[in-house]
Amino acid sequence: MKKMAIIYWSGTGNTQAMAEAIAEGAKSGGDSVELFEVEQFDNGTLAQYDGLLFGCPAMGDEVLEEGTYEPFFAEVEGSLKDKPVALFGSYGWGGGAWMREWEDRVKNDGAKLFGDGLAIENAPDSDGVAACQKLGKDFAASL
Ligand SMILES: Cc1cc2nc3c(=O)[nH]c(=O)nc-3n(C[C@H](O)[C@H](O)[C@H](O)COP(=O)(O)O)c2cc1C
Repeated sequence: MKKMAIIYWSGTGNTQAMAEAIAEGAKSGGDSVELFEVEQFDNGTLAQYDGLLFGCPAMGDEVLEEGTYEPFFAEVEGSLKDKPVALFGSYGWGGGAWMREWEDRVKNDGAKLFGDGLAIENAPDSDGVAACQKLGKDFAASL
C-alpha cells in the first residue's frame, strides 16, 4: 500500500473542495491518503510519503499564498528530488499563470511532476470534481 499526503491552503474553500475530491480518488484503489491543511502538516514527516500532492490557489499577483503556503513550500522544496509530486489549485482570472510557474519550480527542484498541475477556475463544478477524483486515482496508480 502506498502512502500519500495532500497538503493544501484554501481561503474560500475552492482548493479545499479540490483536495477533498482528489483524496477520494486517491483512496479509491486502497492506498493511504492523509489530508492536511498546510498549518497542520509536520514538514519533518515528508520523507514518510511515497507521493505528495500540493494544493494552493493563485494569490497575490500569480503567486502562492504568501503568509503560510509560500514559506511552507520554500522549506520543503529542497527535499523533493525524485519525489512523485502532483500540483493543484483554484484561480480567478489569471488563466492559470501561477500554476505554470509552480510546475517549472517543482521540476527545477528535481521532483517527478505528475502530468500538468490541475488548475480550476473558482469552485470545481461536477466536471471539475471528476477531474480531481481522476487526478487522485491516476496519481496513486502511478506510484
Ligand atoms: C488576495 C487575492 C489574490 C488573488 N490573486 C489571483 C491571481 O493573481 N490570479 C488569479 O487567477 N486569481 C487570483 N485570485 C483569485 C483566487 O485564486 C480564486 O478566488 C480562488 O478560487 C481562491 O481559491 P480558494 O477558495 O481555495 O481560496 C486572488 C484572490 C485573492 C483573495
